[in-house]
Amino acid sequence: MSMGKKIMQWVDARFPATETYEYHMSKYYAPKNFNFWYFFGVLSMVVLVNQLVTGIWLTMMYNPSAEGAFASVEYIMRDVKGGWLIRYMHSTGASAFFVVVYLHMFRALLYGSYQKPRELIWLIGMGIYLALMAEGFFGYLLPWGNMSFWGAQVILNLPAALPVIGDGLAEWVRGDYIISGITLNRFFALHVVAIPLVLVGLVFMHLVALHHVGSNNPDGIDIKKLKDKNGVPLDGIEFHPYYTVHDMVGIVVFFICFFAVVFFFPEGGGFFLEPPNFEAANSLKTPAHIAPVWYYTPFYAILRAVPNKLGGVIAMGAAIAVLFLIPWLDRSPVRSMRYKGILSKIALTVFAISFVSLGYLGATPTTDAATLAARIFTVLYFLFFLLMPIYTAIEKCKQPPERVTGGH
Ligand code: HEM
Repeated sequence: MSMGKKIMQWVDARFPATETYEYHMSKYYAPKNFNFWYFFGVLSMVVLVNQLVTGIWLTMMYNPSAEGAFASVEYIMRDVKGGWLIRYMHSTGASAFFVVVYLHMFRALLYGSYQKPRELIWLIGMGIYLALMAEGFFGYLLPWGNMSFWGAQVILNLPAALPVIGDGLAEWVRGDYIISGITLNRFFALHVVAIPLVLVGLVFMHLVALHHVGSNNPDGIDIKKLKDKNGVPLDGIEFHPYYTVHDMVGIVVFFICFFAVVFFFPEGGGFFLEPPNFEAANSLKTPAHIAPVWYYTPFYAILRAVPNKLGGVIAMGAAIAVLFLIPWLDRSPVRSMRYKGILSKIALTVFAISFVSLGYLGATPTTDAATLAARIFTVLYFLFFLLMPIYTAIEKCKQPPERVTGGH
């Protein structure tokens, strides 16, 4: 027996290394018809690793204090060797994270990946999404730019809309009467330690749940129903080597796009790094137009669409909360949009248009026409969910095939 085999035997007797590898990689049978949409899970993992690694390096040079934060970021950009690259990889990575995660979530809507038995994968995914939003929000205050300050000011004032406890709660969250170095310190702790731990833990659970039930696919049919005499699904292929190699293609294309932005377009036209953030935080100088980073703007538009502040906060919370319910709102007998009826197709299209439009409206200054549009899209956004139990139940679906289509 070779030395390598002997070492593995020794390890396997004490730790399930080979068993785990086989369960998750070489004997994990994934449907063979994965398409473009199935790249975004692995890309989310790639971006997560990028954020963790560049984040650790930034932390080595960053100074988490109201006096030093802004200057330390300038120092990283100008004086630290390669510091600009690490910082731009992290700031671009934040936007890239949401690009890939939004596409990943859309895929789940497209192919009904949240339906039984994958409800928990979706719920854990929603937990990841919330943690990601918190992570982005806490991180955005850290450079202590003027938009960091005023953006946090707007959001941390939202609890004040609650009756009775509102003001006290807002003060407790800030740790001060205004946003100060105290707020910055707690955001630093949450951004660098607490939320990353939660994120990594949730991503682990996400994958454990996925591999327990098996992946869905663009046809939304169950590949475990038809197996060969060895118990291998007829439409399944080993994750390794087939999908590890396949995913490399997606990763390379992603890196080409990612580094094109990092090297040539790191500010993203003011969407990835906003102009007021090139000035240090100034409590006496409000930026002309305060808006959160693009990935929050759909929800920000919903907040602004409601005339009453408390109502706006509730609508915004409900817009996120309702996403958790999707597995139970969808009554369709089939999973994939390929076989769902026309009503589901129209509903998903209208929803996607509403979400993107709200994102645009939330990023631009309000006018009467824009407010009206935001109200219409807010109603359409909610109708997608509220009417889902009806249109998925009454529409006529196509019969899905026995075997997966494509990928042969
Ligand atoms: C850091 C963020 C995330 C990571 C690293 C991640 C990772 C993954 C990976 C690697 C897969 C398997 C490959 C694939 O299907 O693309 C997957 C599947 C899945 N994810 Fe995520 N995910 C993340 C966030 C989310 C979010 C926010 C949601 C939804 C709210 C979500 C819902 C799902 C669902 C439903 C599946 C099963 C898809 C299927 O089998 O068709 N994930 N995820």
